[in-house]
Amino acid sequence: MADIAIIGGTGLYSLKGLEIINKEVMHTPYGEPSGPLVIGVLHGKEVAFLPRHGYGHTIPPHKINYRANIWALKEYGVKNIIAVNAVGGITEQMAPPRIIIPDQIVDYTWNRVNTYFEEGLTHVTHIDFTHPYCHDLRHKIIDATRELNQGAVIGATYATTQGPRLETIAEVTRLERDGCDLVGMTGMPEASLARELDLCYAAICVVANWAAGKGDQAEITMKEIENNLNEGMEEVRRLLEHLIPTL
Ligand code: HPA
Repeated sequence: MADIAIIGGTGLYSLKGLEIINKEVMHTPYGEPSGPLVIGVLHGKEVAFLPRHGYGHTIPPHKINYRANIWALKEYGVKNIIAVNAVGGITEQMAPPRIIIPDQIVDYTWNRVNTYFEEGLTHVTHIDFTHPYCHDLRHKIIDATRELNQGAVIGATYATTQGPRLETIAEVTRLERDGCDLVGMTGMPEASLARELDLCYAAICVVANWAAGKGDQAEITMKEIENNLNEGMEEVRRLLEHLIPTL
């Protein structure tokens, strides 16, 4: 039974070193997850791996069945979820391809099904989301990245936008004014759904590009994103290798 799950984002579709035991096809009351859970042993611990965009990256951020993904992990017995997200950097420290461990979220998404608490309720439920990420898991990630001297930024506010397009300069200016440090499309409702199911959830972000208007290039190219993610995800793999045995 895997206690730990890793949700892979853009650039992380598989885990090197994962000795695969089996693949679990899960069905949930909310539909199908992004793919089967890949169950394996990573550095001596059993983990479940799920790439949120599907195997082959076919599901865009606004079409991901976040409810099914988190439900499937809970159903499988997972207690801790490490989410990996590619993001754009807004504030000065958020240079590509840095690793960032965010501590806050602002949700700008719309039209995404974002709760399990909407039908057949005996009472209305409001979860506490003051601190959106799980304290213990987040601090284990922080310890691991410090031990590896990865120069990760600890503490940042993650703006989740709807996508799939990238932002305009004016939108990024607004996000910065709102206090956001980085921008991605998959942080929500994943984090709040995990909280609704009482799962411990924390994120490792990799800066793929400067957000619109923040870099010295006129436009953001997929090539730039790819190159930075290739480099950044190698560091994420190193981090996971060091972190997993401590969990
Ligand atoms: N904006 C939103 N999501 C992203 C970005 C960005 O600039 N880069 C990677 N994911």
